[in-house]
Amino acid sequence: MSDRGKWQERYENDETPWDSGEPDGNLMVFIETSVIAPVKTLEIGCGTGTNSIYLAKKGFDVTGVDISDIPVQKAIEEAKKENLNCRFLEVNFLVENVGSDFGFVYDRGCFHTMDSDEDRQKFAKKVHEHLSIDGYWLSLIGSCDDAPRETGPPMLSAKNIVDAVERHFEILSLTTGEIDTAREFSPKAWVCLMKKRNI
Ligand SMILES: C[S@@+](CC[C@H](N)C(=O)[O-])C[C@H]1O[C@@H](n2cnc3c(N)ncnc32)[C@H](O)[C@@H]1O
Repeated sequence: MSDRGKWQERYENDETPWDSGEPDGNLMVFIETSVIAPVKTLEIGCGTGTNSIYLAKKGFDVTGVDISDIPVQKAIEEAKKENLNCRFLEVNFLVENVGSDFGFVYDRGCFHTMDSDEDRQKFAKKVHEHLSIDGYWLSLIGSCDDAPRETGPPMLSAKNIVDAVERHFEILSLTTGEIDTAREFSPKAWVCLMKKRNI
């Protein structure tokens, strides 16, 4: 089954435990406590757009992309209700380009769904291509330090992340956090803040 088919099926069947309906706490801490000014921003794998909408409300000029049209349509409707400077597009990020000169890229649980070193490296290279000089990428990534479990997000090691991103990004911080979800448990996560290398 194609990647798109897999995600379409999850959205069609309402199997979307990641969709908490609330902005990600890790993103909120970053926005509230860092020096990042509202910039042209790309959210990759935006789902139903909750975090893009949060960023647009903070003054960021946001484009959210997702491989599935189902959440994209929901996100468009939500943003329209609030008359926000925010656009949503159906895009396979590994294949298509969305533009350039983004000052900030955010993904919550999209990079970690790339299931080979090769695809993770490809994803990181594409993020690099989309960013402006000195641009930032904040990624929330399921962690292998969680207790063994049958379901939930992928479990990546710090090495998986470093191997994929280090060529194109300076890692500014790699800390342990949680992914707030609609599940009964909050999976452990890596909160990885990176700055584009000017290579
Ligand atoms: C775990 S979900 C997280 C959704 C959203 N970020 C959230 O936190 O609610 C991963 C998302 O990435 C999207 N996705 C997966 N592969 C993608 C790709 N190659 N290009 C764009 N979106 C992709 C899926 O459709 C899905 O919406």
